[in-house]
Amino acid sequence: MPAEMDIRPLSAGDETISALSELLVETVANGGSVSFMHPLPLKAAEAFWSGALAAADKGERVVLGAFEGDRLMGTVSLFLDFPPNQPHRAEIGKLMTAVAFRGRGVASALMAVAETIAAERSRTHLVLDTATDDGAAPLYEKLGYTRVGEIPDFAFKPHGGLTGTILFWKRIGAHPATA
Ligand SMILES: CC(C)(COP(=O)(O)OP(=O)(O)OC[C@H]1O[C@@H](n2cnc3c(N)ncnc32)[C@H](O)[C@@H]1OP(=O)(O)O)[C@@H](O)C(=O)NCCC(=O)NCCS
Repeated sequence: MPAEMDIRPLSAGDETISALSELLVETVANGGSVSFMHPLPLKAAEAFWSGALAAADKGERVVLGAFEGDRLMGTVSLFLDFPPNQPHRAEIGKLMTAVAFRGRGVASALMAVAETIAAERSRTHLVLDTATDDGAAPLYEKLGYTRVGEIPDFAFKPHGGLTGTILFWKRIGAHPATA
């Protein structure tokens, strides 16, 4: 991890939305399967992050940003809005690192902080999924996530063509107390 990396939760704000949107547009253009098709209009990216950060400000999710100085290097989201019978669960998604910063441990560091925050909130069961084609399955395996299985033809890749999705989970704490 770069020594100067600063990882922190993000709140709604024009500069933050702008930086996250540029990152999302670039990620999709480079084939990252993060729910959108290429070309992703900047306005659509801004609408997405505006909603995401509003949800974060309500406590429904945590959107983390990894910075080098003022420059946003990567992001990940921890989704916390689960039904009453699953208070111990959280989902991880929207993990992306700017192309210029890939391969330097940014995503791994973001995942570590997301897991720490999840544990602090007693979220002991984490789930996530990633595209079969060009996804991040090797990264999640390295981070100790258990592969559950694959659903074929799950979504379109940003530049077209179907890809499957691989489901993963990880326990990061003790069994939750039974209700
Ligand atoms: C996946 C992604 C977030 C990884 O970001 P990163 O900051 O480069 O990741 P790291 O530097 O922390 O990599 C950690 C390890 O995982 C490996 N890794 C990361 N992404 C990988 C991938 N797509 N395929 C294979 N290995 C990968 C790295 O080689 C590294 O292993 P090493 O330490 O043994 O060299 C980045 O490639 C990205 O933004 N991709 C597009 C969006 C995407 O697919 N997100 C995942 C959606 S579920």
